[in-house]
Amino acid sequence: MVALKEGYDLASEVRRLKVERNAVILAHNYQVPEIQDVADFVGDSLGLSYRAKETHADVIVFCGVHFMAETAKIVNPGRTVILPDLEAGCSLSDSCPADQLADFLGRHPEKNYYVIAYINCSAGVKALSDIICTSGNAVKVVENAPADRNILFVPDQNLGSWVMEQTGRKMDLWKGACYVHVEFTQNSIQKIREVYPEAPVVAHPECTYAVRMLADEVCSTEKMVSYCRNSPADAFIIVTESGMLHRLKKEIPDKEFIPGPTEHCSCADCRFMKRNTLEKLRDALDALQPEIQIPEAIRKRAEQPILRMLDLK
Ligand code: 13P
Ligand code: SF4
Repeated sequence: MVALKEGYDLASEVRRLKVERNAVILAHNYQVPEIQDVADFVGDSLGLSYRAKETHADVIVFCGVHFMAETAKIVNPGRTVILPDLEAGCSLSDSCPADQLADFLGRHPEKNYYVIAYINCSAGVKALSDIICTSGNAVKVVENAPADRNILFVPDQNLGSWVMEQTGRKMDLWKGACYVHVEFTQNSIQKIREVYPEAPVVAHPECTYAVRMLADEVCSTEKMVSYCRNSPADAFIIVTESGMLHRLKKEIPDKEFIPGPTEHCSCADCRFMKRNTLEKLRDALDALQPEIQIPEAIRKRAEQPILRMLDLK
């Protein structure tokens, strides 16, 4: 009861500070329920990028991970962008440091690569890329890539190979992966399927090939909402980070959502996404920090490939 009251007071304080600061709260689908519930917009990387670009609020509080807040600052540099916990990183982004990518491109000039970077990467990697994609538009981005260029897709090899399967386009893949999504295995998903044989399996494309093969639908977190809403099924196995379940249950209360298990756990949490808490959100709004800062030269170079993606409606 006490915890409930504290949670309520904290949420009210966040709402009060938000008005005082003329801030907008953008939250990714993997954020804890208390944050999703006070956010102005909850969505996937693509939807959040559009919202960040369009907002006229003085402050963008980005409840997600570092590369997402950085993207907001790149596309809307006049706003103060804050991230409740600066340590909210991403293993996938870390798997492709900008200096290693620059070195690789420097060693392969003969390939004349067209670099497509999944948005889960640093501003430095974006600055080295031709176009950005998210899981929500990766297929379209690859379909629109110049036919006469070799494509290097960074940093997620699982998303990259799924896009190759969808488009038939051959690409060279950076060998990065998300530590959360590779925890789902063929065995763990097969087992839960035996318990709920009627429930379609809905998986994120960051999952491995073996898991994607068991899925009825492979899609971004945002498309999971429309897929489940429009499907005639009334229960679904959701193979992605656990925060997604809150969004689905809230928007589609008459259906059942079963978390996809890993080998070791009944669901999967991203330790980076979960660094943000309602308390940290309140403190960040109060102090207007931690603030995202990007050197202007990098920001400008990173902006072009993001805008190319956003223009590809
Ligand atoms: P979405 O863009 O599908 O929400 O994915 C973001 C992410 O980090 C997945 O791990
Ligand atoms: Fe990065 Fe994976 Fe966490 Fe998404 S779930 S933010 S890809 S570590």
